[in-house]
Amino acid sequence: MRSGLAFGLVSMLWLVSCSGGKPTEISFGKDIRPLLNAYCAECHTPAPTGVGYAQTQFSTETYESLMRGTQLGPVIRPGDAKNSIIVSIIAGKADPRLRMPHARGPLPAYEINVLSAWVAQGAKNN
Ligand code: HEC
Repeated sequence: MRSGLAFGLVSMLWLVSCSGGKPTEISFGKDIRPLLNAYCAECHTPAPTGVGYAQTQFSTETYESLMRGTQLGPVIRPGDAKNSIIVSIIAGKADPRLRMPHARGPLPAYEINVLSAWVAQGAKNN
């Protein structure tokens, strides 16, 4: 009886120490890829040519094209979400006319946080 209780306590502490503390690592493949497909790809792919791609050359199709950015250069600064254009425009912090997805409602706050956290964690192809 007593040892059962002790075991319960120990395993509970183990669970807490293993899950708590370190922030979840965002995955490009599991978290970011589906987000881009759902909210951006419609306008940001070269073929079929989306309006966003046509105007900026920004394609969300692959990790490489995402990191290349627009014809003016990168929109992601790995490790620096605050100064990454992609984060400020989806969060509506840039000129509100530029808010993405263009001419749609804003992304859900959760998705904004996920994208922002991925950039802050280094925008890795993980
Ligand atoms: C309904 C179409 C549409 C959707 C959906 C869309 N975009 Fe765009 N995007 C555009 C257009 C059009 C432009 C160019 C005109 C402008 O900058 O407003 C653009 C421009 C951009 C730029 C360049 C901004 C700059 O100032 O250089 C980025 C970065 C961008 N989009 C990211 C995204 C991301 C990320 C998503 C998904 C969350 C997204 N877009 C969804 C149409 C769209």
